[in-house]
Amino acid sequence: MKKKILVTGGMGYIGSHTVVELINAGYHPVIVDNLSNSDKKVLTQIKQITGISPEFYEIDLCDKVALNIFMEHQQDIAGVIHFAAFKAVGESVAQPLKYYDNNFGSLINVLRCFEERKVAFVFSSSCTVYGQPDVLPVTEEAPIKKAESPYGNTKQVAEEILQDVAKAADNYQIVSLRYFNPVGAHASALIGELPRGIPQNLVPFITQSAIGKRGPLTVFGSDYDTADGTCIRDFIHVVDLAKAHVAALQYLENNKAVKYDVFNVGTGKGYTVLEAINAFDKANGQSLAYQLGERRAGDIEKVWGEVSKSASVLNWKASLEIDEMMRSAWAWEQHLQSAE
Ligand code: NAD
Ligand code: WQD
Repeated sequence: MKKKILVTGGMGYIGSHTVVELINAGYHPVIVDNLSNSDKKVLTQIKQITGISPEFYEIDLCDKVALNIFMEHQQDIAGVIHFAAFKAVGESVAQPLKYYDNNFGSLINVLRCFEERKVAFVFSSSCTVYGQPDVLPVTEEAPIKKAESPYGNTKQVAEEILQDVAKAADNYQIVSLRYFNPVGAHASALIGELPRGIPQNLVPFITQSAIGKRGPLTVFGSDYDTADGTCIRDFIHVVDLAKAHVAALQYLENNKAVKYDVFNVGTGKGYTVLEAINAFDKANGQSLAYQLGERRAGDIEKVWGEVSKSASVLNWKASLEIDEMMRSAWAWEQHLQSAE
């Protein structure tokens, strides 16, 4: 029998790619999502990619009653991958309660569903918990800096909640994955990121600008202490990231004594913003128009991850390079345009 894995937020950007990888690895994903930042079409696309239409329940995880009714019929869930959360940093500054409500409410409600049963639980954390690290590449042991935003704070506090829960009860085995900067899309160009409004993140802005949906890109800051003056990030292909979740589940299955652990999920390599733009141009035969602008408030100057712990313990390593991240991001943007 295929193992059932509850994937909260499984219709979203990272969740949908993970559902594909779970199916590829022989699991039976069950998606719960309220579609607050995703589209039902994703189910058809996943079916096109895998030949399997995953089980899907449109439920708001903050709705305890609906969640409990759903769980009564799901006695055989062996694992949970918890993606569901709001993630827009700027919006979280303007509407902190919306973020605290949803990101904590959904997490606590899902954890409560497993108070009486064993579960392997994988949580979407973020390299945002490190702020500007003092030492690079940043390791999992680096100090957690005061969060720059309510969104970042939800990740820090969620990690604390998970550690407390793992310590208090024997039935939870928990892994937090600290993602660096997820970009790109599935090679089929059938699933990808669906940014609402003006993209705040670099790669969606690049692709929307290249396709003519937006004006020229503004590079936020060119006077940082880096080789070309622009910020450095560790971009990670979303398909590699999706596979890290499968690796984390398998790690928990094979190591029943593990109660809580945390892993960086990146490539271990940093690229400046200008290098990322060049990679986009090179991969897609483009010459993206951009202008150098002011720094963006709250930006981290440079961050990339030490990923040897994920390699040795999870047996996972990123394999896709920046050219493939940029190629697939562009193919996805073109798919979106042709579907309009
Ligand atoms: P996304 O918005 O594409 O996916 C999140 C999904 O969760 C959406 O489909 C949304 O409809 C659903 N959702 C939100 N609240 C819900 C609720 N109360 N009940 C049910 N469903 C709900 O985001 P993503 O980029 O796929 O991110 C997934 C996770 O990874 C999030 O927790 C995010 O904070 C984290 N993360 C993302 C990034 C990034 O840059 N994308 C980086 C680090 C961590
Ligand atoms: C990358 C670089 C920008 C847009 C954010 C969240 C973080 C995490 C990932 C979830 C920066 C520059 C961007 C533009 C630009 N999410 N940039 N022009 O800032 O690393 O992280 O998303 O946990 O919490 O803060 O990613 O893609 O926004 O920016 O020059 O139009 O690109 O200044 O240097 P970031 P990003």
